[in-house]
Amino acid sequence: MAGSRDSDDSGPFAKPVEGETPSGGLPTLRRKAVECRACPLWRDATQTVFGEGSSRARVMLIGEQPGDKEDLAGAPFVGPAGRLLRAALEQSGLSPRDVYLTNTVKHFKFVRRGKVRLHQRANAAEQAACRPWLAAEFQRIRPQLVVALGAMAAHTVFGRGFSLTAQRGQWHALPAGIPGMATWHPSAILRKRGRERELAHRELEADLRGVADALADAEPPRQDDGD
Ligand code: URA
Repeated sequence: MAGSRDSDDSGPFAKPVEGETPSGGLPTLRRKAVECRACPLWRDATQTVFGEGSSRARVMLIGEQPGDKEDLAGAPFVGPAGRLLRAALEQSGLSPRDVYLTNTVKHFKFVRRGKVRLHQRANAAEQAACRPWLAAEFQRIRPQLVVALGAMAAHTVFGRGFSLTAQRGQWHALPAGIPGMATWHPSAILRKRGRERELAHRELEADLRGVADALADAEPPRQDDGD
C-alpha cells in the first residue's frame, strides 16, 4: 500500500495483554465500561461514552474524547464536531452500518467556568487507562480498516513518533495485520479559519473517500455471530 510503514509497538493493537483486555460482546463491554474506575475522569463526567455501531462494522473510526454534548447524550460525535464528521462520512459513500465510531478516552474531561464546562485534554495516564476498552472494541469488531481522527488517536494507534501533518491520509500497516490511516479531527477543522479550514475540510472528505474506496477493494466481510 502506498506510503506504508510499520507502526511501532505502543498502540493498543500491538500485543493485547492477556487478562487486561475486557472480554465479551459489545453490549457486555458497554455495560462493564459504565463501571470503569481506572482513572479519575468518571467522578465528574455524567457517564461513560462508549463506542457506537455494529460488531460487524468494517471500519473503526477512533476520535479523541467525548465533549460536553456527548457526555450528556452518552453517545460519541453528537455535537458540532460530530455533525461535521457525519456529513463528511455521508459524502464519502461509506455506509453507516460499515462504520464503528469510538473514542480513545471514554469520559468527558472539563473544568467549570461559571455555567460552562470547558473541555480539557485527557493526559497520558488517562489515555493509557482507557486503552483496554479500545483494545476490547477492536478485538470484538476485528475491522478491516482503522481510521484515527486527530493526533491523540493517531499516537494511540501508530505510536508517539507519528506526525499527523506529515503522514495524514497515508495507509500504514498495523501490527494486527490491517491497514490504518489518520486524518484531521473534525474539532481541529472547526478551530481553523478561512482557507485553512476549507482545505482541511476537503482533505478530511478526500481521506474518507479513500477509506470507502479501500473498503470497496477489500475482501467481503466475514460472517460472524453478531454483537
Ligand atoms: N470529539 C471527539 O473526539 N469525540 C467525540 O465523541 C466528540 C468530539
